[in-house]
Amino acid sequence: MSKGNFRTKMYTESGDLVNYWYAIGELKEFKKNKPQQRVVFGIPIAVWLNEDGKYSAILDRCNHRNAPLSEGQIVDKCIVCPYHGWVYDETGQCTSIPSEGPHVERIPNKKVESFPVEAKYGLLWVWMGEEKTPSREIFPMPVMDEHGWHYYYMKTEFTNNVTDLVENFMDVPHTVFVHKGWFRDRKQVRVEAKVERTKDSVLVSYDQPNDSIGFSSYMINPKKLPMKHTDNFYMPNNTRVDYIFGENERGFIISSTCTPRGEFDTMVYTLISYKFGWMTPLAKVGLNWYTRKVINQDVWIMDIHGKNVQQFGETEYRSTQCDAMHIYIESLREHAAEPEHKNKPKPIIKDIEFWI
Ligand code: FES
Ligand SMILES: [Fe+2]
Repeated sequence: MSKGNFRTKMYTESGDLVNYWYAIGELKEFKKNKPQQRVVFGIPIAVWLNEDGKYSAILDRCNHRNAPLSEGQIVDKCIVCPYHGWVYDETGQCTSIPSEGPHVERIPNKKVESFPVEAKYGLLWVWMGEEKTPSREIFPMPVMDEHGWHYYYMKTEFTNNVTDLVENFMDVPHTVFVHKGWFRDRKQVRVEAKVERTKDSVLVSYDQPNDSIGFSSYMINPKKLPMKHTDNFYMPNNTRVDYIFGENERGFIISSTCTPRGEFDTMVYTLISYKFGWMTPLAKVGLNWYTRKVINQDVWIMDIHGKNVQQFGETEYRSTQCDAMHIYIESLREHAAEPEHKNKPKPIIKDIEFWI
């Protein structure tokens, strides 16, 4: 496939990281015949929903004089450039040029780049790969259809990069500082965990059956059932944090998928899934407020952290045992970005201990 000039530096330097599906909005954000712009790897994309319920996504740049197509209108399922009215179908093919009247033979055959899109799990996803036939599945957002579970999405802008964000979502030690009094308090208890790196995931399981998180003890776990806590990362941009009480009697799962708009500009879609027994229907309002409060604490620390990373870089990090999962995440993402320069990370399992 020929390389057009729309590929940003960020895109071309991302290697295999572009060959995945990225979330670009909750389905409820897209109204029929109202095109919108989304940005992934710094590339602006015009997205629209047709009359017949089909989504389309093409580069947000008219072939004529580069005007943004997302500012145009949808007519007969096609997008019409707001500047001189060139018309493009869902494949990016120009089908009409008003100033050429009936002369369709004068339409240039160069298409505007198009991108596969798919609606799934309440989100719209775009395939950013060079090859237009997706070679991978959309990340499976968990338990949406399982009995007893309720869920909602939160959409959050972070001024940091995907690697540091997924590490933050998988990071236990920060909870007693950044979320002090809200999620966990510092008690200097010893924590053991098993950290496993596979070819495309980092899986962490904690041995802390008596741990409690935020509201959990009085709201979701009144019987003080043992808690199973796992933090998993799935390439290249997804995390899933599970707190399961008893034998799946109750639970709280936080799943996040990160969409890089720019190097330090990331949109995160967080699916909060919860099963609190008879409390479940009552929980939504309080939980919404609580989870927004906690995420905003991460927005803050990720903002000031991101500014310092831009100032000082990331090459001088010092790590301890509790950073094992972060080092594994970095190894997978860095190898995907530069397969010819980085050694392929091997599967590994490591037992660690730390204090929180
Ligand atoms: S810039 Fe789009 S029609 Fe002229
Ligand atoms: Fe956090």
